[in-house]
Amino acid sequence: MEQIQIIDSKKHVGETVTIGAWVANKRSSGKIAFLQLRDGTAFFQGVVVKSEVPEEVFQTAKNLSQETSILVTGEIREDSRSKFGYEIGITNIEVVSESHDYPITPKEHGTDFLMDHRHLWLRSSRQHAVMQIRNEIIRATYEFFNNNQFVKIDPPILTGSAPEGTTDLFETNYFDQKAYLSQSGQLYMEAAAMAFGKVFSFGPTFRAEKSKTRRHLIEFWMIEPEMAFTHQEQSLEVQEQYVAFLVQSVLDNCEYALDVLERDKEVLKTYTKLPFPRITYDDAIELLKKNGFDDIEWGDDFGSPHETFIANSFEQPVFILNYPKAIKPFYMKPHPTREDVVICADMIAPEGYGEIIGGSERATDYDFLLEQIKNHGLDEKEYSWYLDLRKYGSVPHSGFGLGLERTVTWISGIDHVREAIPFPRLLNRIYP
Ligand code: 4AD
Ligand code: MG
Repeated sequence: MEQIQIIDSKKHVGETVTIGAWVANKRSSGKIAFLQLRDGTAFFQGVVVKSEVPEEVFQTAKNLSQETSILVTGEIREDSRSKFGYEIGITNIEVVSESHDYPITPKEHGTDFLMDHRHLWLRSSRQHAVMQIRNEIIRATYEFFNNNQFVKIDPPILTGSAPEGTTDLFETNYFDQKAYLSQSGQLYMEAAAMAFGKVFSFGPTFRAEKSKTRRHLIEFWMIEPEMAFTHQEQSLEVQEQYVAFLVQSVLDNCEYALDVLERDKEVLKTYTKLPFPRITYDDAIELLKKNGFDDIEWGDDFGSPHETFIANSFEQPVFILNYPKAIKPFYMKPHPTREDVVICADMIAPEGYGEIIGGSERATDYDFLLEQIKNHGLDEKEYSWYLDLRKYGSVPHSGFGLGLERTVTWISGIDHVREAIPFPRLLNRIYP
């Protein structure tokens, strides 16, 4: 008997096959048992009809408890009533391993309870759908950057530098030295861009931020492209093409997952229209003030209500350009005609999901950067390699960082970033 995976059912209609699966749910009467089966690739229904199978098979089916692992044998048939479209008419069941008192039942559970059982919660259909979308975004990221001649370069995780400021670093001992877990690979990616032209990284990032919001993780994954001989305007074009490509890839390849999550596909389609709108920081402040936000002044960073209001003023993700120098990192290129702002942009996702990309053109002047490093209280010696990049053939270059989990949260249409990563690290959680 051929052993197949549920996802491949459509290729085996009318054939008798075996599938290794878990019992996600069960309904049975005296005559028929409906098993909701999952094997990691998909969920579908198995049907056991008492009058069509040996009595012990029907009894086994009736006694199956949630999450028992089984090998089922039967014929694949079309099932027009289900979203998945196929089911299996079971003729035999072999129990692989029993499961008793599975903690997550079809009733409602609180989020803390589910988070404590994250190792099991991942099996549920909603979590499965979110992880499928995450996987598609990862796959499409590699496709996009490979198609566009970017080289993948892996920056270190243990570092001595702090590109995004020293307040949220995870410190660790590195033998007789101090080291930090990377909060961004950007500075290394700048070195890589000078060696390979267009590069991107895709790795874990750590921020000891005392933020307890639905957008903040302590450990998250970031994609950081960096491009030599590239100004900010060209970088913005790459960013909007990349994000539109991610949305289109999820629409093309994750229809079922989007349906499970009841995500409106028509709304997602509007996010593939280019270009994305752009608004300056100055104009964004004006817009907020005109609309009754008196809790913000020029020079302040946006809070999430501000970002949401700005995003709601547009249909697509929006770029906010040229923030005040004082609230941005040391490496950003100063504006050519204004002292007070830098050449940068954040991309704000629609529907209140907030910032998904932060990026900028990078300062190229040695003396300017050295002064910035000192002004930001950073150790000059630690950045001497970074300054070297401005000594030996410095060129205009730009780059950005996209937060994977925020992007997954937005495209999936879920409420909280903690469900967009398999095992979230949150302010008060490192278990499981
Ligand atoms: O804006 P950030 O801090 O930018 C950088 O780290 C730059 N060095 C990137 C670059 O230019 N190469 O972070 C980039 C993105 C944010 O827009 C957000 O999507 C995500 O990373 N991010 C977080 N995601 C989840 N939890 C957190 N605590 C995050 N902090 C940032
Ligand atoms: Mg940012």
